Amino acid sequence: MPTPSNPLKAVRGTRDLLPPDTALWNRVESIARSVFSRYGFGEIRTPIFEDTSLFARGVGEETDIVSKEMYTWEDRARAQSEKAQSLTLRPENTAGVVRAYIEHNLGDTGQLQKLFYIGPQFRRERPQRGRYRQFWQIGVEVLGPVTSGSESPLRDAEVLEMLATLLDELGIKGWRLELNSVGSATDRPRYVAALREALAPIKHQLCEDNQRRAETNPLRVLDSKDPNDQALIEALPRIADFLDDSSREHFSQVCVALDACGVPYTINPRLVRGLDYYTRTTFEFTVPSSGDPASGLGTQNALLGGGRYDGLSEMLGGPRAPGIGFAIGEDRLILTLQAQAGAPHLASEMWEKKLDAYIAPLGSKRNAAALALARELRRAGLSVEVGDGAFRLKKSFEAADRVARHIVILGEDELASGILTVKTFATGEQTKIAQADLAQALRA
Ligand code: HAM
Repeated sequence: MPTPSNPLKAVRGTRDLLPPDTALWNRVESIARSVFSRYGFGEIRTPIFEDTSLFARGVGEETDIVSKEMYTWEDRARAQSEKAQSLTLRPENTAGVVRAYIEHNLGDTGQLQKLFYIGPQFRRERPQRGRYRQFWQIGVEVLGPVTSGSESPLRDAEVLEMLATLLDELGIKGWRLELNSVGSATDRPRYVAALREALAPIKHQLCEDNQRRAETNPLRVLDSKDPNDQALIEALPRIADFLDDSSREHFSQVCVALDACGVPYTINPRLVRGLDYYTRTTFEFTVPSSGDPASGLGTQNALLGGGRYDGLSEMLGGPRAPGIGFAIGEDRLILTLQAQAGAPHLASEMWEKKLDAYIAPLGSKRNAAALALARELRRAGLSVEVGDGAFRLKKSFEAADRVARHIVILGEDELASGILTVKTFATGEQTKIAQADLAQALRA
């Protein structure tokens, strides 16, 4: 039980976002919305919790996310005849979007669906800087029937080019696009078999985690960060050598289109990503890592990740609907902006933007009139704070100077005459203004 000396705190791995930081969050989201709308995206909002089997089937039973990190509970049955349902807080949103695509028959329109979302996700990870248990993603999914062009490498390149534009417009410096192809649903099993074979004789030399991964999900060994295992991992077979002709051709067309747009990228043959639904193109955008103070991310340098998921709809019982998407870790994006010099240009105008006016009633009897005046000005589109008649005038001036450009004094004389005293802090000028002209004057 909490006691006065033991107040409740936010749960470990979750955090409160407060002003003025939230101004930066809103600014980032509005830039993202503006970029997405220029590329023809519409917003989708899916539930924060879903049936557990959606993630088990979509993301994959053996991924870290599903096997270790989900917040899952049995929802109580409401009637005896009802079965308890296993529910999970969404650890990511691609599976939910594809479920919604299937449920609402969005494929029947024959159109390519270009959807974006902004919202919290939940993973029970070990919290550290840039890694939280509730974190935010800004994501995009492009999917549709094959006839809508959803499989085309043009879509991959468009999504990547849009990301480059978004990061540039946000002012993120030094981002790097790492790109790979993990092949089709038939290439992957051949590659995984080859990996297993190559891992078998060297497994005992790997760290404990990698020994387990070599058994359960050998692809995961590739993105291990364990420094002692790197030389062995480097020598493992590469997926590029297992791609069939059509996957190889698809990947090369993505690269050609990126070159045509002038979007720089690095091919990273070990980039396999931690979710099972990926096929063909996979990618991550990183910012300079831990050693570099510009990143602000500690060791978590993946700002965002994504890729193709051509078989996900079918895995979830839907029609064929190839797709590609990404999710930006918004917390990491904000940390990076705050650590880089780019933050002030986004936030300062909001942090420093003062209200138009502060109304200072003289004496508590003037409080009601002050609120009525504030209502009039706010309805005229001005930003206004109201003081309290119980404050001494000096305190009102100090409070007003902190938050507003003008102070409006409302005393008995002013109320009787309808002529108000207004001081402009920037110039120190004090003037008398008729109430009818006040809104106009305060805008200046
Ligand atoms: P993901 O790589 O698991 O992909 O997550 C995307 C991004 O979310 C990461 O790059 C990272 O910035 C952020 N992120 C992940 N976990 C955390 C955490 N615990 N704390 C803070 N940030 C985190 C997906 O979620 C896929 N659904 C992306 C996608 C969309 N693929 C296709 N469409």
